Amino acid sequence: MIKVAPSILSADYVNLQKSIEEVDKAGAEILHIDIMDGMFVPSISYGPGWVKAIRPITKMELDCHLMIENPERYIDVFADNGADIIGVHVEATQHIHRALQMIKAKGVKAEVVINPGTPVSLIKPILYMIDQVLVMTVNPGFGGQKFIPETIGKIKQLDRLRNEHDNYNYDIEIDGGVNNKTVVKAYEAGANVAVAGSYVFDAEDPAARINAIREATNF
Ligand code: DX5
Ligand code: ZN
Repeated sequence: MIKVAPSILSADYVNLQKSIEEVDKAGAEILHIDIMDGMFVPSISYGPGWVKAIRPITKMELDCHLMIENPERYIDVFADNGADIIGVHVEATQHIHRALQMIKAKGVKAEVVINPGTPVSLIKPILYMIDQVLVMTVNPGFGGQKFIPETIGKIKQLDRLRNEHDNYNYDIEIDGGVNNKTVVKAYEAGANVAVAGSYVFDAEDPAARINAIREATNF
């Protein structure tokens, strides 16, 4: 079954606790926290202090998607503040292997993220050490964008590689433009974690949207 990871980027920041408790109650397994530095992506969102504040109010896994240049600088603080998964963009560091080693050394799940324009071949050498691959299905930086269907081929590739290698044990996550329609082909291709921001939090009833993603992939 697919795991659903609501992204708080589209949540109500003034009533954040209420938003988080709502998706927690609806059975979301993972809470997706988008960290943007105004350099790697144009937007600035929030920092490690938010992870520290959120940690005590939920048992959901906290997935910190670092959209920041040289993420090595911030891995330890995100881990110390309670991240369960830390995602680093392969495009944001000269030393992806070292960044992933740093994440694993903290006992946190290591996630590598690839932009729509980045090929799977670039991350092949480090797939053996990965807990989760995040395939961006939009260009990072903003919520509410349109799903890019051409990214599906990369999900298929990653799924094939996972089947071919006994030592590859990663989840495949999608992020950007995900709703109960776009999730279907991605799920068929092998994605098993769905991030959804605006689809969940711009709705009157976020729980219904989480259920709609589950129902759409229940086959
Ligand atoms: C985009 C972020 C996403 C964003 C997704 O840079 O990585 O996690 O919150 O938003 P939606 O689901 O609205 O496309
Ligand atoms: Zn994200």
